[in-house]
Amino acid sequence: MIIAANLKTNLTRIETLKYLKSLESCLSKKSITQEVLVFPSPTSLNTHDGKVTIGTQNAYGASNGAFTGEIGSIHLDEFGIKTILIGHSERRHVLGETQEDLVKKFNFYRNLGFKIVYCVGEPLEVRETGFDNMMQYISKQYAGIDTEYENLIIAYEPVWAIGTGLTPTSEDIESIHKELKKKSSAPLLYGGSVKVSNAKEVLGIDDVEGILVGGAALIAEDFCKMCEIAQEIEKS
Ligand code: PGA
Repeated sequence: MIIAANLKTNLTRIETLKYLKSLESCLSKKSITQEVLVFPSPTSLNTHDGKVTIGTQNAYGASNGAFTGEIGSIHLDEFGIKTILIGHSERRHVLGETQEDLVKKFNFYRNLGFKIVYCVGEPLEVRETGFDNMMQYISKQYAGIDTEYENLIIAYEPVWAIGTGLTPTSEDIESIHKELKKKSSAPLLYGGSVKVSNAKEVLGIDDVEGILVGGAALIAEDFCKMCEIAQEIEKS
């Protein structure tokens, strides 16, 4: 299983260091062998020695240049970062990245061999138009994306479930993941209001191969607990 924490615009550099320290100690105490990814804020990116793989929540699709406010691959190289989150709903809907922007970024980091966690998911108004329309909408988010890329991980995150405490039913997640698995054999994570109390149910659903956790991952012990739950499910 793959267990990922998206820390978003939270935790300072010092807080992130403390977070990683307690996460690493918890993971090793519980002998976690699952793949654990953490995406801290850009100013908290750093070299890291441990079980956790550090990824960036964003970067521009260039090594460097005149892209005010962005970071490029040279800034990631400095810290040995080789993992990136692309297509998160906040980047699509709050920061206005288009599918074309995402494809450019995807291709740039694919060509550098990065592990890419690529997010897809529908807003509520699309979901309310029915299953077929919703799947069509999500299909468009696959346009231009190399779904056979060997270092690809896909995360299905319904926009209306992110940070709201709402989650689709297990049956919903199962049927959507089943459809999405037809598009790519890449590991498929679920994200959107996953927390300690529902992680077991979510991770137990067919075709859920991991989770991408935001708010509930901000407490290292809770995130570690979710890694432990994933490990128990994988073993059973
Ligand atoms: P959430 O966020 O767990 O706070 O809903 C998930 C995400 O945005 O990846």
